[in-house]
Amino acid sequence: MQQIDHIRLSPDGDRLVILDQSLLPGEARYIELSTAGEMYEAIKSLRVRGAPAIGIFAGFAMYVLSRGMSKENCAEFEREFFEKSAYLNSSRPTAVNLSWALRRMESAVRQGAELSAAALEARLLAEAQAILDEDIAMCRSISEHGLSLLNPGDGVLTHCNAGPMATSRYGTAIGPLILGAERGIPLRAFADETRPLLQGARLTSYELQNAGVDVTLICDNMASMVMKNGWVQFCFVGCDRVAANGDTANKIGTSGVAILAKHYGIPFYVLGPTSTIDLDCPSGAQIEIEQRDGEEIRSLWYSRPMAPEGVRCYNPAFDVTNHELISGIITEKGICRPPYTRSLAALFK
Ligand code: MRU
Repeated sequence: MQQIDHIRLSPDGDRLVILDQSLLPGEARYIELSTAGEMYEAIKSLRVRGAPAIGIFAGFAMYVLSRGMSKENCAEFEREFFEKSAYLNSSRPTAVNLSWALRRMESAVRQGAELSAAALEARLLAEAQAILDEDIAMCRSISEHGLSLLNPGDGVLTHCNAGPMATSRYGTAIGPLILGAERGIPLRAFADETRPLLQGARLTSYELQNAGVDVTLICDNMASMVMKNGWVQFCFVGCDRVAANGDTANKIGTSGVAILAKHYGIPFYVLGPTSTIDLDCPSGAQIEIEQRDGEEIRSLWYSRPMAPEGVRCYNPAFDVTNHELISGIITEKGICRPPYTRSLAALFK
């Protein structure tokens, strides 16, 4: 597959270099980040986005930040490290991968309390690299499991972007389609454009087209028609946080796709690594949903206003799909089936 190195370190390790996803597909610009403020802004503005990608970013971000911190006094270093980690964690609340990765980096600091400054930095770099390497392996495995469900000629509808740019390689929800294309298996993808930030139009259709997958872009309100026409045999979506009972937070509009799929009898699958499963969260009711600026609905993307100035907007970035609507949750360890309270817990035994 064509590999996009969208999160990497500068050669001297002092900066984080990312592909600014907010500019795609019009412009492929890499930006360099060195301060906590710049890193916070990059997550908040979706320059880096997608649950696993945010986690990978956070690992390398903490490594870069740690290089600028004095290590003379261990307690002082820990205090500053944890303070910066908490700051990055406050950038977006819904995807659990962010806090998951930051916790891993914090543990590395705690375990490295006795190390020299150079050894501690090496330890942190190794942890960030491990988060990335594990994600590459998990996405590959998820793609294999997802592809095992598909037959040649099948159509798959997806929502938002759960591709290589939202992860490391392959992605989750569209990983099976990319893997299928590599193997010459004819599959069709339908990508919801995904209002208001258009991740489906800007990123998913871009990635699928580049991977040689037969992709058709649709507006979100066309999914029902596509299902009714019999063009899709599966819905594959990503996830930002999966609760212990299988309730799943993903991009706003995902739960609507699941409800439509149930109506038309189309299997609806969630694909995500175990790093996105939060067994500490009993159900979707406890998942914090990020609320975003109404300008994303009112004016973003338009050259002229498309809504009256000052009109009230409601702009939740995610919604929760009830576990009863989910046919299976595909992780790197296999496909979990209902009851999810049992099958998800078994993944961590
Ligand atoms: O707001 P975003 O673009 O970060 O939302 C991304 C999604 O909802 C993805 O579907 C999810 O993070 C899974 S990415 C493998």
